[in-house]
Amino acid sequence: MEAVLKVKNLTVEHRSKKSSTTIVHGIDFEVMPGQCLGILGESGSGKSMSLKGIMGLLGQGFSVTGEAIFGGENLIGKSREQLRKIRGKRIGMILQNPMTCFDPLYRIDEQLGETYREHTNLSKVEILDKSVEILESMRIANPKEVLKKYPHQLSGGMLQRIMIGLAMSMEPDLIIADEPTTAIDAITQYEIMKEFVRIKKHYKTSMIFISHDLGVISTISDEVLVMNQGNVADRGTFNQIYENPQDDYTRLLVGKKKAVMEKYHQAVHKKGGIGL
Ligand SMILES: Nc1ncnc2c1ncn2[C@@H]1O[C@H](COP(=O)(O)OP(=O)(O)OP(=O)(O)O)[C@@H](O)[C@H]1O
Ligand SMILES: [Mg+2]
Repeated sequence: MEAVLKVKNLTVEHRSKKSSTTIVHGIDFEVMPGQCLGILGESGSGKSMSLKGIMGLLGQGFSVTGEAIFGGENLIGKSREQLRKIRGKRIGMILQNPMTCFDPLYRIDEQLGETYREHTNLSKVEILDKSVEILESMRIANPKEVLKKYPHQLSGGMLQRIMIGLAMSMEPDLIIADEPTTAIDAITQYEIMKEFVRIKKHYKTSMIFISHDLGVISTISDEVLVMNQGNVADRGTFNQIYENPQDDYTRLLVGKKKAVMEKYHQAVHKKGGIGL
């Protein structure tokens, strides 16, 4: 089977007048159809820079080299305009802070409409129907009322649901979710993860799921890539990474999590009370 996205020797550099720094050091990975690649790594390890580099989301001063083959074409080297067309339609991106994805000055219906006008030929009425459908698909109550709201009138969890619904409604070949639950409270986080798992099962959409949280990665990923200082430290299935980490850095990440899980387990099972 052919990979949906095949990345080879991806390098991201930042150049300023005085110096040049390599942020991502020639990494390789691929995403297979219907599978989720989890990218794990501590803050600053280069997870976002790698994907932003591929998707043309880095500003001036960054140079991206290597290959990222998607639909038979190399995304690296494409113009900003070409990448903008691919983003949102064939590759859906869901970012950490949903607030920053919405323009505070426009109502939700106007913003969904704008995206639809850009990527489809739907009429005004069809766009409204589609918008209601998106909200319903993400199980948002009173969709017509919600569409009339401004972003600040909705919770982060609700906005993230709308982002996910919008991304999925374009029927993308690949979803890239970069820490989509980090800015959201724990209970909503759990609900959002359930949505992702449902989407993956139901639509068989290929995914890249970036997180520094081993628990989150474990719920959705088939394969895991561990990044450390712009390099791939480890890779394998979640169980391989968890049970038999090859790299010291992965061992450290897994060790920390195991300790937390152990403590939690002890607390829950403590005699004479719930212990939490
Ligand atoms: N604007 C910038 N200019 C130069 N270097 C940057 C810039 N932004 C980030 N970096 C460098 O790139 C490295 C990787 O950053 P990146 O945002 O990819 O980390 P990350 O793994 O996504 O972390 P997090 O979990 O916090 O999101 C950082 O350690 C930092 O040194
Ligand atoms: Mg990041």
